[in-house]
Amino acid sequence: MTAYPPISDQLPADDLESARKEGRRKMEWAAQHMPIMTALRAEFEADQPLAGERIAMAMHVEAKTAILVEVLADGGAEVAVTGCNPLSTHDDVSAALDTHENITSYAKRGVDSEEYYDAIHATIDLEPTITVDDGMDLVAAIHEDYPELIDGIVGGAEETTTGVHRLRAMDDDGALEYPVFAVNDTPMKRLFDNVHGTGESSLASIAMTTNLSWAGKTVVVAGFGYCGKGVARKAAGQNANVVVTEVEPRRALEAHMEGYDVLPMAEAAAVGDVFITTTGNRDVIVEDHFEVMQDGVLLANAGHFDIEIDLEALEALAVDTYEARDGVQAYELEDGRRLNVIAEGRLVNLAAPIALGHPVEVMDQSFGVQAACVRELVENGEAYDAGVHDVPDALDQKVAEIKLEADGVQFDDLTETQREYMGSWDHGT
Ligand SMILES: NC(=O)c1ccc[n+]([C@@H]2O[C@H](COP(=O)([O-])OP(=O)(O)OC[C@H]3O[C@@H](n4cnc5c(N)ncnc54)[C@H](O)[C@@H]3O)[C@@H](O)[C@H]2O)c1
Repeated sequence: MTAYPPISDQLPADDLESARKEGRRKMEWAAQHMPIMTALRAEFEADQPLAGERIAMAMHVEAKTAILVEVLADGGAEVAVTGCNPLSTHDDVSAALDTHENITSYAKRGVDSEEYYDAIHATIDLEPTITVDDGMDLVAAIHEDYPELIDGIVGGAEETTTGVHRLRAMDDDGALEYPVFAVNDTPMKRLFDNVHGTGESSLASIAMTTNLSWAGKTVVVAGFGYCGKGVARKAAGQNANVVVTEVEPRRALEAHMEGYDVLPMAEAAAVGDVFITTTGNRDVIVEDHFEVMQDGVLLANAGHFDIEIDLEALEALAVDTYEARDGVQAYELEDGRRLNVIAEGRLVNLAAPIALGHPVEVMDQSFGVQAACVRELVENGEAYDAGVHDVPDALDQKVAEIKLEADGVQFDDLTETQREYMGSWDHGT
């Protein structure tokens, strides 16, 4: 078998230089708005904490992620990176990254399933000492196909909710054989990236892809977790009527108390104009729901995998299907209704044709935590057993402090008396 080629060997030779230039331009814009990564890059360049490490990464390869990849490489690591979704890579950014002497980028947009996994295996050929994942495909491939490498791996870091769910399931089965930090679960990631990032960027992608307004529309948000809350809040802020569907009673109650209509999907399906799934679960919108939807509805998914909207069932119901706009596939049903699926049901804020992913500022925070975790693994990796680990709170707080300082926001500190009071149990009435 021939080795899977890096992006520089995949793009047409005539386009390579201009792609690299455009990718670099996107990265420079992102870097200008990433004060946390700028501060960490300076530290990493000076200390070289990752010298001698080999890092394999499967992430959404676009401008913000590229800054994380570069910071790790500038900290002394050799890095091999690929995509974590077949549609989210920006080839120009991937090509720009591939010019760095410590980085090989295999990420390419539009790969099929075989190429996707070949590229993951190509990053593993580096024989990583550390893995950085978004969705856990890399950890899974190492455990399934390269168990002999596990002894040499200090640990990993996982970016998203679905990846952390999969890792915890693996850990519960006793199958996870090295420590992995649940970066997703830190306050600095989840309270900002999942809520504001997913909310803002999903709505922006849908609006840019369709050129349609939110005002006056009924937007059905499936799942009222961190991402769903963000999508619901931002849609309401754009004057949409928001309906929430949930399966968890406290989350359903929370949505109700926030003032949203809460309905089962069977009822919401008949009233929605736009549907956005954010559950991380499968089969959330299925045939029974398609049967009652209005003509012209938009269907989009913001969860990690393309399993939330049952496209096979929709395909089977359709008498015709065609691309209504770039990134919008119309499914025409026997009675003439058209249901429009955006970005093939893949996560809409990254996979739509003009999707830019999360705003730069929130990714600065998430990737600040990622970089801090990688350093922690190198410096203190032996302190962590195999399994899923919470990120040490002090690391997360340090990232918040860098951001507050960069934004010129000052905040209070506890007095000694307050600290003593909060730490004691013997102060009663
Ligand atoms: N688009 C992005 O850029 C982005 C960013 C972060 C996370 N994610 C992904 O989004 C998904 C959700 O992440 P989260 O952090 O909000 O998770 P979460 O666990 O906080 O929320 C998911 C919610 O969906 C609900 N749910 C599960 N099955 C359901 C069903 N059948 N119908 C209705 N509700 C259901 C759960 O009860 C839960 O409240 C994950 O796949 C995650 O990886 C995407």
